[in-house]
Parts: sequence; C-alpha cells; structure tokens
Amino acid sequence: MEKIRRTKIVDLWTKPTFGEIVNVKGWVRTRRGSKQVNFIALNDGSTIHNIQIVVDLANFDESVLKQITTGACLSVNGKLVESVGAGQAAEVQATEIEVLGVCDNTYPLQKKGHSMEFLREIAHLRPRTNTFGAVFRIRHNMAIAIHKFFHDRGFFYFHTPLITASDCEGAGQMFQVTTLNLYDLKKDENGSIIYDDDFFGKQASLTVSGQLEGELAATSLGAIYTFGPTFRAENSNTPRHLAEFWMIEPEVAFNDINDNMDLAEEFIKYCVQWALDNCYDDVKFLNDMFDKGLIERLQGVLKEEFVRLPYTEGIKILEDAVAAGHKFEFPVYWGVDLASEHERYLVEEHFKRPVILTDYPKEIKAFYMKQNDDGKTVRAMDVLFPKIGEIIGGSEREASYDKLLARIKELHIPMKDMWWYLDTRKYGTCPHSGFGLGFERLLLFVTGMANIRDVIPFPRTPRNAEF
Ligand code: 4AD
Ligand code: MG
Repeated sequence: MEKIRRTKIVDLWTKPTFGEIVNVKGWVRTRRGSKQVNFIALNDGSTIHNIQIVVDLANFDESVLKQITTGACLSVNGKLVESVGAGQAAEVQATEIEVLGVCDNTYPLQKKGHSMEFLREIAHLRPRTNTFGAVFRIRHNMAIAIHKFFHDRGFFYFHTPLITASDCEGAGQMFQVTTLNLYDLKKDENGSIIYDDDFFGKQASLTVSGQLEGELAATSLGAIYTFGPTFRAENSNTPRHLAEFWMIEPEVAFNDINDNMDLAEEFIKYCVQWALDNCYDDVKFLNDMFDKGLIERLQGVLKEEFVRLPYTEGIKILEDAVAAGHKFEFPVYWGVDLASEHERYLVEEHFKRPVILTDYPKEIKAFYMKQNDDGKTVRAMDVLFPKIGEIIGGSEREASYDKLLARIKELHIPMKDMWWYLDTRKYGTCPHSGFGLGFERLLLFVTGMANIRDVIPFPRTPRNAEF
C-alpha cells in the first residue's frame, strides 16, 4: 500500500482537499451496499462524524473484503470527493484498503441502541460509540476550559497530595491507605491498630478534598486552583455520586463570600460557553439523541443571573410549598441538610434558574467555614443547578485563630492533624474564600447525561471497580 500521510476525519470535514488522494485510518461503524458498490462508515474518534468510504467491489480481493466488518480497523487510501449523499460533505473513493485489525464476531457493539446499563458493562469498548465519543471529547474540552479560565485570571495550578492524614470535610468517608498485613494486624492493649509500622508511620487515607493544602497556597501565592481526583467512601448509590471523582478547587486570598459567588458564577458560565463554542457538534448530537432541551438549558444558564438566597429563606420557600400541598420524600425544617429534591424544587420550580444558597446552619457544614455573628450559621455557599442539585460547595473561611480552634475542639478533630492548617491563622491570617466544583457534576449538566457513571471513563462506585 502506498504510504500517504494520514488525515484525521475531523480535518476532512472542516477543511476538505477535494480531488486529492488521502489516507484515513479508523474503525468500521457500518457497511452496507449492493453487489457492485459498498459504503463503509469509518470513524477515528476525532469527531462525531464518520467519513464515508466508497468501495467498488470489483477493484478488491474477496479475502480483504470479507475482513471489513463492524469494528474492524482499516487504513484506506483514496480520492477525496464531494459527496452527493445527504448529511455529509465529503467521501473517499477507495483505491487501496489495508485491514490493520480484523474484528472478532463476538464484538458487542454490532447493533445500535444499546442501553446505558449494558454499555457500562463494556466500559472498555463504549468510547467507540457515538455517545461516549461525544461525552469524552466534551470532558477533555471542559478540562482545557477550566485551566484556561484560571490561567487567564492569574491563578496558579497547585498540586495537592492525594494521600493525606487529615479529613478535610470531617465526614469520615475516607479510603484508608496502608501497607500493613491485614491478615496479621498488630494491636495495642486497647485493641487499637498500631500504625507505627505502617508505611507512613501513621494512619493515612486518600484525600476527600485538596482544600486545606489549597488554603496554604492561597495564603502565599494569592490565588490558586487544584484540579485532581478525590475519593469518598460514601455508600451512595445515586446517579450523582462517585467514589472517585475529579474536583476543581479555587482558593483566593482577600476574597469574601460575595467575591466567591461572583467567581463561581463567572466560572460556570465560562465553561458552559466554552462547550457551546468548541463542542457544538457533540453537544448537538447529545441534544438530538437524548435530551431535546439540552442546548436551550445551556443557553438559559448563560443568560440568567443566579439567584443568591440565604438558607433560612430557602427553607421558608420549601415550607410554604409543603403547606400548599407539594409532597417531598424527605422532611423540611430549619437545620435540615437539604436533599436533592429540595434543591431541585428551588431551582426548577420556584426560581427556574440556578440558585446560590448561603449561610447554612453550622451543624451541617464543615469546621473551616467562617462563623456568622448569629452564632448559628456559617458563611457557606452551595451552587444549585437544574437537573443536578448541588454542583458547587464552598465558603468564606474562618480567618480567626481563636474561633477556628474553638470549632476544631468542639468537633473533637485531633490537633495532631490540624496544627499546620492552624498556622495559616497564626502567621498573618487573612480573609479568604474558595469552593469545589464537582467535575462530573458539571459534565452531567453540559452533556445532559442522566447518570454520573456515564461521564467518567471508568466509574468507581460501591461494589464496582472493573476495568
Ligand atoms: O461540597 P463538597 O464536599 O466541598 C468540598 O469538598 C470543599 N472542600 C470544597 C471547597 O470549598 N474547596 O464537594 C464539592 C463538590 C460538590 O458540590 C459536588 O459537585 C462534588 O464536589 N461532589 C461529588 N461529585 C461526585 N461524587 C461525589 N461523591 C461527590 N461529592 C462531592
Ligand atoms: Mg457540599
């Protein structure tokens, strides 16, 4: 076969060089046609669109032709011509075909219309479907958008550790990291495990958040963000929870809660705009395929100013809804940790746009949040989104050494884990704020997918760590 430099299919669509001999490589999606001419839809992952390969059967050996089945990998040389077929700009009239990889007839992606559940069972192959190709191209683009957003605004990308000895959120949902022999654990006279011999000489876990180290960076570099995997051993089998997910955590010195809300709103809108500007073909595919309201919802968020509302007023609205006959599965009262149904009621039914809820009861929020003068609430902020519920959680941080220490003691958080964090409040403390955006929750919103397991390549959830 003549050696020709490969052209990606995306380039054949966006800048076609009609009349030239090109080489394309990719995987067969479908093959159809007559006894004389066959049409192969080839996809190489560079775009949602396939390129049509026109094969005049008389020009090829039967031994080659019979290997061209769904899933096979081909290299094709041929002339790029304008297509007469609807929905495609160009096609390749094959002159040479090499089968790089035949595809066994057990290939599970033979026909269209597999369920999401089935595709999760073959997560190693699902990126070859239109849907998951689109989702993972969008996922890449969102990561780029996030780095660009912060870089352009002078934030530094700061790498926080994945292995840690402190529980940032204090929710006790950590995966332990150990090299101890679990079949032969050494314990002291009280029955407690002796961690002295463990790898780190103390109990260690996978991090639930990079925030505490992020605060060290913000109080020196000024404005930083983290972007990495986080791990939570919460036994939540919901369409919005993963045991391993990615989080973006900006942290900014001198920002108060209002600056923090401004940043969160600008940030999310930037990401949504980026998806519309840079992934339109993929977003449109998902819109047409699964969720006819997707593009409208994305454009809607860009137009609307987010509602900013204290928790106490949010509870009043929910209580009024209950009084008017609205049925929630979980009870509503001041002090309750809102369930997703409550959050979605505020966003989807009451305000019909994103809501930033602030000033939550301190009992349901983490120890590090700035305490309000009422003694009951903290300067927390959750950004609530249509179809998702909570997409961002953040706060202004408690800057006072004494107040923070009192809260740490109240919650019996071990000082041996917190001394370095408290040092920020001892050595030139300053007001500062930050938040965490769940990357997969953002992707749920931008792709319109219904389950968080379908926006990460290899989801980790309770009883599931395949691939
Ligand atoms: O609200 P969370 O727990 O906040 C923090 O971790 C803070 N340290 C953030 C900060 O202030 N720097 O989590 C932040 C976000 C949530 O709003 C949600 O979008 C996402 O992380 N998240 C999850 N996403 C998927 N699966 C889970 N189990 C998640 N838990 C939280
Ligand atoms: Mg939260």
